[in-house]
Amino acid sequence: MEILKLSPRLAAVASFVPQGAVIADVGTDHAYLPACLLLSERITPPAHAFDINEGPVESARKTAEKYGLADKMDIRLNNGLAGTRETLADTVIIAGMGGENIADIIARSSWRWTGRHTLILQPMSKAYELCSWLYENGFYIAGEAKVKDGGELYRVLCVKTGRREMPDELELYAGVIRAGEALELEYLEKICRKLQKAAEGLGAAKNAQPERYEKLTKLAQQAKNRLEELKR
Ligand SMILES: C[S@@+](CC[C@H](N)C(=O)[O-])C[C@H]1O[C@@H](n2cnc3c(N)ncnc32)[C@H](O)[C@@H]1O
Repeated sequence: MEILKLSPRLAAVASFVPQGAVIADVGTDHAYLPACLLLSERITPPAHAFDINEGPVESARKTAEKYGLADKMDIRLNNGLAGTRETLADTVIIAGMGGENIADIIARSSWRWTGRHTLILQPMSKAYELCSWLYENGFYIAGEAKVKDGGELYRVLCVKTGRREMPDELELYAGVIRAGEALELEYLEKICRKLQKAAEGLGAAKNAQPERYEKLTKLAQQAKNRLEELKR
């Protein structure tokens, strides 16, 4: 049988899954992640694998059949976590979607989130918006990794329940950046360019949105200073 190998992005997500976890993978698509975690005996069955679209649910079922995992997976056509309770799983994975969609799925769940839950979130966009939302809604980022896949850099967030102080704006955009961590520095460079572009993009509108213009310009400068400091 063909070996199931995860992409670097999904492997980074998998690295945060606690040994023996019961997972719910929301937006599972081909269900490669739960299948791989089951095959390596990293998680406890059943692995809940949900998707909102029929095509992906069909693909998930094919993966389960192919790897002999049909009786170990609960594959469902489901919108987010709708209709489920917090006892379903201790680890929720939401990867490969926009940050706003991820926040919306968590917000619309009727789960009572407790310290026993881990959320592993991998936004494809709007990571800043997702991180701010998490802190405003009683979650915090307990760990994070940066990963490069197909030439693109991504953040993978390991999130826990609990009130913590909101990190500063630059950290919300870029996460923790440590000297000597090449991918983290590269990510900060990316954010620096993005902030500069956004500030420039306001261009003529800067008089219409002076506060936003000022905020972005200041943040872009902070990012640049931090980069120089870390590269010294
Ligand atoms: C790009 S795929 C990501 C697949 C996989 N999680 C990964 O990271 O490679 C996004 C999947 O999320 C599903 N999706 C989007 N919104 C959803 C929602 N509200 N509930 C469940 N699935 C959703 C889509 O149908 C799609 O299959």
